[in-house]
Amino acid sequence: MTELEQIAAPGSEWWRSAVIYQIYPRSFADSTGDGIGDLPGITSRLSALQDLGVDAIWLSPFMTSPQKDAGYDVADYRDVDPLFGTLADFDTMLAEAHARDIRVIVDLVPNHSSDQHEWFQQALKAGPGSPERARYVFRDGKGANGELPPNNWQSVFGGGMWERVTESDGTPGQWYLHIFDPTQPDFDWTNEEVKEEFRSILRFWLDRGVDGFRVDVAHGMVKEAGLPDYAPVADADSMGGGEASVPYWGQDGVHDIYRDWHKVLAEYDGDRALCGEAWLPTLKQTALWVRPDEMHQTFNFPYLMTPWEAKALAEVIRESLDEFGSVGAPSTWVLSNHDVVRHASRLALTADNPQGEGIGPNSPGKPDAAIGLARGRAATTVMLSLPGSSYLYQGEELGLPEAMEIPDEFRQDPPWYRPTGERDGRDGCRVPIPWQADAPAFGFNDTGSAWLPQPAEWATFARDVEESDESSTLNLYKKLLRERRERGLGSGALVWEDCGADAVAFRRGELHVAVNLGTEPLPLGDDVTFVVQSQAFEGTALPVNTAAWYTKA
Ligand code: GLC
Repeated sequence: MTELEQIAAPGSEWWRSAVIYQIYPRSFADSTGDGIGDLPGITSRLSALQDLGVDAIWLSPFMTSPQKDAGYDVADYRDVDPLFGTLADFDTMLAEAHARDIRVIVDLVPNHSSDQHEWFQQALKAGPGSPERARYVFRDGKGANGELPPNNWQSVFGGGMWERVTESDGTPGQWYLHIFDPTQPDFDWTNEEVKEEFRSILRFWLDRGVDGFRVDVAHGMVKEAGLPDYAPVADADSMGGGEASVPYWGQDGVHDIYRDWHKVLAEYDGDRALCGEAWLPTLKQTALWVRPDEMHQTFNFPYLMTPWEAKALAEVIRESLDEFGSVGAPSTWVLSNHDVVRHASRLALTADNPQGEGIGPNSPGKPDAAIGLARGRAATTVMLSLPGSSYLYQGEELGLPEAMEIPDEFRQDPPWYRPTGERDGRDGCRVPIPWQADAPAFGFNDTGSAWLPQPAEWATFARDVEESDESSTLNLYKKLLRERRERGLGSGALVWEDCGADAVAFRRGELHVAVNLGTEPLPLGDDVTFVVQSQAFEGTALPVNTAAWYTKA
């Protein structure tokens, strides 16, 4: 029996403590040299992830897609987009990952499809009132001639949430709902055919052997009956993280869908898992997604959004453990993903340039690189000591900052276009990652082509350079992951310690963890022996923007 088979025994619930590494396929490794990463590229680099010491990988979408939202617009849920390879390439990648004891989670996008999906094309042709239209959210417009959208909802990507279609006889017709881009029409999740189709899609990937799903926009699938008007309060988070009651976020009905899916996964052996992407205003609400018969995990976005501030950090950890614990679920932790400014830059943002809108060449108040990296490394040192499951985003193990100088003509993210150029969008965290300092495209491929330009200074972050530097971020991550595994930190209790108002400190068994978020060094006492320092320092006082794991005599 391989180690994977042993821990896959029913009941082992690997996901409770796993460290899961997010691969953004188009920017990970490119085997064809066309400038876009692919599945054979991932397979060729799996040994680096085994070496890093992660338990699982989550792949952002690689299914057939016109790529209007980098693959989050799926045209065929049961096939691989030729950009990324073939289903056979997927099977090889999965088998190779499993052979290395790495589990594989795939991204499922059930809130909306691409407008090129066969069902949507059929809906356009079939006309108002047809069963084909009933799979999506089509409505007649308001106004004398239906020329106004059915309600006032605003798309997450900017502009209205409704698009008017031209009927097959050439006349202006109904409107369809799209929470995101107009090329991403929302499904109607009250429709039985939609429900059955997604059960079948789950089974398609489960039969191939995937270990679970990351569920995109898991809080948006059900809309309030009657689709009432709604205007967000000023400064509300567009993904729903800021407000209690929004008619398209966090509606009660979504929970029935996950209860249903839970049963589908339970038909399979090996503890398959669902992880929800649900941006909700409170941790109490977030915990509803992981009640025992629903999803297994959900992302802890309140943790990701926490500012570099001791009180706030302690509070979010305490609340996460309490709220997830109250429903019997592990907490998850995450600092970076493909939608947010990389945490090695984000944690040094100033009020001039708050997180959330991306950072571009013209943004005011660029974060200080050295402070960002120090805080980024310290934040990860805290995260990987916490009980529960942690998510890493490709490149953070190299300490990559946000790419902030992407010229306008290269930007591809939809929020950049809607409305034009007001938000820099998410391209800055999606740039292909560097593998080798002295190779074309830093080893991303052999040709030097990259779908987003890589900053020249990323040579210093290349994996081969960091491999041989004992003090590198890569070697810090490897050490943290090794110690975490050996000490079983993914489960068990956390005991708070008092290290003053500018620090967060706690104990995991005999291991102490402290992070200094203040402006003065923090004395830890003479009897400490360091296990890990987020950056090297002499003596026993913890420098600012630094975290450590240590024992006491
Ligand atoms: C999720 C994805 C994001 C995408 C959106 C629409 O938030 O993480 O990248 O744009 O859903 O599918």
